[in-house]
Amino acid sequence: MFYRAVIRPVLFRIDPEKVHHIVSYSLKLVFRIPGMNWLSRKIFTIEHPLLEREVFGLKFPNPVGVAAGFDKNATLFYELSNLGFGFVEVGTVTPISQPGNPKPRLFRLPDDSGLINRMGFNNLGLRYAVEQLKQRKRKGQSVLIGGNLGKNTLTPNAQAVDDYACLFEGMFDWVDYFVVNVSCPNITDLRELQNQESLMEILLRLQEINHKKKTPKPILLKVSPDLNMQQLDEVIDLVKKTKIDGVVAVNTTVTRHSLKTPVSQVRKIDRGGLSGKPLNHRALKVVRYLSEKSGKAFPIIGVGGIFTAEDAIAMLDAGADLVQVYTGFIYEGPFLVRRINKALLKKNA
Ligand code: FNR
Repeated sequence: MFYRAVIRPVLFRIDPEKVHHIVSYSLKLVFRIPGMNWLSRKIFTIEHPLLEREVFGLKFPNPVGVAAGFDKNATLFYELSNLGFGFVEVGTVTPISQPGNPKPRLFRLPDDSGLINRMGFNNLGLRYAVEQLKQRKRKGQSVLIGGNLGKNTLTPNAQAVDDYACLFEGMFDWVDYFVVNVSCPNITDLRELQNQESLMEILLRLQEINHKKKTPKPILLKVSPDLNMQQLDEVIDLVKKTKIDGVVAVNTTVTRHSLKTPVSQVRKIDRGGLSGKPLNHRALKVVRYLSEKSGKAFPIIGVGGIFTAEDAIAMLDAGADLVQVYTGFIYEGPFLVRRINKALLKKNA
């Protein structure tokens, strides 16, 4: 309540991208204070065997994770784990550092509890992310980390497979699972890679590298909420054929249905992916469809518009094995994770 009544109104007066930097910087500063790590874990983290989940061969301390895009450069996973998250998906990381789209590129829709972003994979590149991830062991972190992979904007789609392969090799020793991202609406033509042929090529190439390793790592595909039923059927088929380990559903949407924000304002914002509450209904539908139609053949990470413990439970009931939050974390604040875990514990007790 304190976050919504006091902190959020202050933060929401500042440009959203600036707030992200301010919050990231503050988190880094705060956790340098001796004892803060311990204190924060005491406040935010709930540890209980009933919250643990074994999914695609990994043991998650709890099923609530940070969705991709929040920790783009793998600089915050340590701080985020202290806020009670069970896992952090870093990235999207691209092979080479890139600035992303021109600013402004992140917009709030407070009337809808949503965000529109067209960040465009702004990140410091593979080498930087790996340097950060190498500190994992030194910091003694137990949080699980996923690596979300994307091609550089300037890489033509025909060569995208090489970008994904390079990222997979480069990050292999430093993350626990991988997510192939071809569903971001903010990179020109990226979503064209969602066709069967391109995806088959990318996923089979990664599996080829994966199976040459002593211990292969889980590979997941992140899907768009804008796929139709037939395309979702193709996703199921693809997961089975390439034997990847699961799906992250969903990324942001290009649709703008039934928003409370005035049309003129939405039009002014222009292009970008919509996230938050307006996405929740569709996210649930996609997760339920994938789960039911496949006969629960593979694990699903459910993401999209989770703002409350009830939302998280609904996502799990729809067929998700784990959930992630992004926009809900911004609107509801850091206690959201604790609230979800507490409710799950009560439900499972
Ligand atoms: C994202 N998202 C995202 N996804 C991804 O795979 N790679 C990325 O780099 C990003 N970047 C990103 C930036 C911003 C500002 C937002 C709001 C979102 C999408 C995110 O991971 C998630 O799939 C959606 O936002 C839906 O979840 P929420 O936000 O409704 O909880």
